[in-house]
Amino acid sequence: MTRKIIIDTDPGIDDAMAIFFALRSPELDVIGLTTIFGNVHTTLATTNALRLLEIANRSDIPVIKGADNPIAAEYEGPVPFVHGNDGQGNLDLPPPTSKALDTTAAEWIIEQIMTHPGKVTLVPIGPLTNIALALRLEPRIAENVQEVVLMGGNAVVPGNATPAAEANIHNDPEAADLVFGANWRVTMIGLDVTHRVNMTRADIARYAEVGSAMTNHVMRMLPVYQGYFEKAYGSDGIYVHDSSAVAYVIDPTLFRTESWSIRVETMGISRGKTWPSLGEVVLPPWQNRPRVNVAVDVDSPRLVALEHARMIE
Ligand code: BDR
Ligand code: CA
Repeated sequence: MTRKIIIDTDPGIDDAMAIFFALRSPELDVIGLTTIFGNVHTTLATTNALRLLEIANRSDIPVIKGADNPIAAEYEGPVPFVHGNDGQGNLDLPPPTSKALDTTAAEWIIEQIMTHPGKVTLVPIGPLTNIALALRLEPRIAENVQEVVLMGGNAVVPGNATPAAEANIHNDPEAADLVFGANWRVTMIGLDVTHRVNMTRADIARYAEVGSAMTNHVMRMLPVYQGYFEKAYGSDGIYVHDSSAVAYVIDPTLFRTESWSIRVETMGISRGKTWPSLGEVVLPPWQNRPRVNVAVDVDSPRLVALEHARMIE
């Protein structure tokens, strides 16, 4: 049975790869892309989402623009040194001919979940602002969603935006704390696992042999992203962040998880750090909080092979 998913995204080079991976996976029915600031401003994220669907020849899928700023702060701005000035590896892509729907991401997410109770999975691969806004507007989405599988956070490893925090959570810690605190099933695919999923240059080179519109786009945009990973981590290839969340929805057996409550630090130099409850004794900040399914280990070769197979089949 196919699963209806909404990808909430800030494309973003790895977002683009995750979206293509989902579109190529028969287990998934991508019913919409909602957009958010993060790698780029929300307006450019929306343009990029429309462009990506045009490249994939899937403009039948709606795009809905999300919030421009975090719920309790100002957006700190894009990261061109990671994703390029355009969020797509400086490709100077033509403007899309399609348009976003005339509603907000939060409202559209609520409408979809409430129209298909128990059938919609949210896959946020950017900051969690739209999801938190949707929860605030209609708390009943918590009992009507199928599942939330998000890319973000770092339970027992360092951050990437700062030594303490992962980029998606760092961009809106207050929103993240609301999402981890709601009574719904949340799986956190964070740096604990994504920094173990390495797609090497040799893996990437194999996309060049395919020659589809999607793999051609991936090959064109990846040099900027690879350059960042080489400089920042001395890495031969890229860490697979956003596609790892898509992979979990397709095949959770790729991961080992722990059941912890998560609190998000919203103050000071550790702003955006996701703190797991860890031991048996649950201390006051974590008390009365639901458990989150936190990914702590991953079968990296099998995950990379799965994504690769989907893109070349
Ligand atoms: C996350 O931050 C963004 O740069 C990526 O798209 C991913 O969603 C990784 O920390
Ligand atoms: Ca992202």
